Amino acid sequence: MGPGTLASILSNLPGFNYPEVLVGLETSDDAGVYQLNQETALVQTVDFFTPVIDDPFVFGQIAAANALSDIYAMGGKPLTAMNIVCFPVNCLDLQILGQILAGGADKVRQAGAVILGGHTIEDPEPKYGLAVTGVVHPNQIVTNQGAQPGELLVLTKPLGTGILVTALKGEVLTETDIQPAIDSMVLLNKVAAETMQEFGVRAATDITGFGLLGHAYELATASRCTLEIWVESIPWLPQARDMAKMGLVPAGAYANQYYLKDRVGFNGLVEEDAKDGLFDPQTSGGLLISLAEDKADGLLRQLHARGQSAWVVGRVREPESFSILVCGR
Ligand code: CO
Ligand code: CO
Repeated sequence: MGPGTLASILSNLPGFNYPEVLVGLETSDDAGVYQLNQETALVQTVDFFTPVIDDPFVFGQIAAANALSDIYAMGGKPLTAMNIVCFPVNCLDLQILGQILAGGADKVRQAGAVILGGHTIEDPEPKYGLAVTGVVHPNQIVTNQGAQPGELLVLTKPLGTGILVTALKGEVLTETDIQPAIDSMVLLNKVAAETMQEFGVRAATDITGFGLLGHAYELATASRCTLEIWVESIPWLPQARDMAKMGLVPAGAYANQYYLKDRVGFNGLVEEDAKDGLFDPQTSGGLLISLAEDKADGLLRQLHARGQSAWVVGRVREPESFSILVCGR
């Protein structure tokens, strides 16, 4: 099922029109937000998926970092998490499950949150993830809305995890070869989120299954703007574009490209492998942050000082016929 079909099903669900619901089903935001009192709103999200790599501990880390990311993308602070587990209890060694859970717990601990419990069901295909609850001040919620023309777009992780995992599954690359991608996927968006809050950012999202352009499209639509993406400024994981040139592109990238075909315009020379990368579904990708041009330098400097990578990859424009304009050479 493509993202378009799923989006239309979700948008047809009846909404909950309570004043406490600050961010609900209507916008394609990363997490839901429910106000408790003047100072505090709950941020809630859930995410789980099948293993992207063989090492069960690292898979647990990646799945947890990915689930926590939606709290960070909303500017929230994760507090509690629940494990969601599907596992072939009678066919696979339970030690493997133990390793997955240990990896997840490691990341939750690093986030400063706790795991309170969870649920496991028997399933031939293992899956793991978390339901996460966090908090945010009601005035400091970061959403897809609110990107303003003239603002710059900052991306905090390089692209290409979907392509590299495809190359790994196709046995073209080894886990050692894709170590930079693994390092990127296990990295929490914690520092990125805390730092953007210090700079008063109000518009951001994280880059996951719909790829950079899919999530940029959600940001553009909710903010009623056009986003300009500069291909020459995009950071790529090592070998990602080489693997794309060899055709090692996940089906999801083509689904994303198909869904966005009337929404994305291309300007100048944009190579095919770069296009594939821009649509590549990311696992535990970085944040895409929109902020005032005069604050961008400061944000980048502060992120770099804290060991967090970040690049300016585009600009917000007045709404035009395309939601996204990809500018090549
Ligand atoms: Co998200
Ligand atoms: Co999600």
